[in-house]
Amino acid sequence: MKTILVTGGAGFIGSNFVLGEKSRETRVVNLDLLTYAGNLLNLQERDGDPDHVFAKGDIGDRPFVRKLLDDNRPDAVINFAAESHVDRSIDSPESFIQTNIVGTYHLLEETLAFWKNLPADRKDRFRFLHVSTDEVYGSLGPAGPAFTENTPYAPNSPYAASKAASDHLVRAYHHTFGLPAIITNCSNNYGPRQFPEKLTPLMILNAIEGKPLPVYGDGLNIRDWLYVEDHCEALRMVLEKGKPGETYNIGGCCEKTNIEIVNTLCSLLDEMAPESPYSPHSSLVTFVNDRLGHDRRYAVDCSRIGRELGWRAKETFESGLRKTIRWYLDNTQWVQSVRSGAYRDWIARQYGVADANALQTAPDCSANKLQSASRSQGL
Ligand code: NAD
Ligand code: DAU
Repeated sequence: MKTILVTGGAGFIGSNFVLGEKSRETRVVNLDLLTYAGNLLNLQERDGDPDHVFAKGDIGDRPFVRKLLDDNRPDAVINFAAESHVDRSIDSPESFIQTNIVGTYHLLEETLAFWKNLPADRKDRFRFLHVSTDEVYGSLGPAGPAFTENTPYAPNSPYAASKAASDHLVRAYHHTFGLPAIITNCSNNYGPRQFPEKLTPLMILNAIEGKPLPVYGDGLNIRDWLYVEDHCEALRMVLEKGKPGETYNIGGCCEKTNIEIVNTLCSLLDEMAPESPYSPHSSLVTFVNDRLGHDRRYAVDCSRIGRELGWRAKETFESGLRKTIRWYLDNTQWVQSVRSGAYRDWIARQYGVADANALQTAPDCSANKLQSASRSQGL
């Protein structure tokens, strides 16, 4: 049985990956700091499972990481752990520098020391897989070709810059020290267990509750959308068949404007929640001030992973969104638990309202109030 050290395995993508490993007879050691974005409820399906070991800790805590590696002797490390939300990186970049750059450096150092002492056959098979983002490539014009693995890095937000820096470190640890590391750069994921500060869960949950749906700017920014389980499957293929020292782009070949996403979610909700008093949900759409430095368009050319490793996305945009909405409709306990005081504070600050309650009852929160409130906060 293989052992994988998964970092950030209580977050959105990490937990979907860890749950998917259950049927694959892998032993998973799950290292997560349980920041606001990490949640043990995400891992409930593996409660009591002897092949899932949870360890609360920081990827930057060298003695802790060293002990985990020595005690568990993994065959691979897959690094999901990160601060991942662009808006929070604009509000307060420091934790992004700390975890994404300094934390990755410490994790690399400890992994390198562990890897160097492995017997030759295990050393050859070992992999360090660093999960990164398409945002490192910057922003595309309306007609430019999609990002390839050779597109130069041009990160625009503190988040993207911190991920780019971590990618460079991973690349350097392969080039300089021979660590068998691989980087993946993926587009926007959606699916179950995503923290509701990100576009799709925020819109689904606000719409269900009749709250405004805050669309930044003109709503015409484009992202390339991929269902989270398709991303996890791609990562498994990269772990098994990817070449050390290489990078693989992963994407959904599914470019959509934000307003298209929000309107599609609304019409699916009209159909899937027919008893909702808020139909048509698209009437809740509210344009708010734009994100600072908002990248206009991302698109990922993922032909390489298809050609070389045989991966392609299974879920269509509509089937993936239906599964996602169903999950949020069915998991009200999860929703309540992640909407802690800290989450409410964030929503109040980000959307420029004095109290998150202002976003809780639609009639008190007109589009104009939201617009002017967010303007006055300089959003
Ligand atoms: P997330 O914010 O939902 O989860 C991050 C997890 O990392 C959380 O469980 C958190 O507790 C943990 N964590 C944070 N700091 C830590 C630290 N110092 N030590 C240990 N654990 C720590 O993020 P996500 O959306 O699941 O993204 C996972 C990875 O995938 C990130 O590296 C992100 O950059 C990358 N990515 C995300 C997307 C996306 O659309 N969500 C797309 C491409 C790449
Ligand atoms: O591209 C991959 C990246 O996708 C990942 O690396 C990041 O970790 C992940 O958070 C995501 O970043 P985005 O900034 O693209 O995701 P977010 O869900 O925050 O926003 C998606 C788009 O929707 C973006 O253009 C901003 C817009 N948006 C977002 C929110 C939260 C709105 O219009 N209104 C909102 O309230």
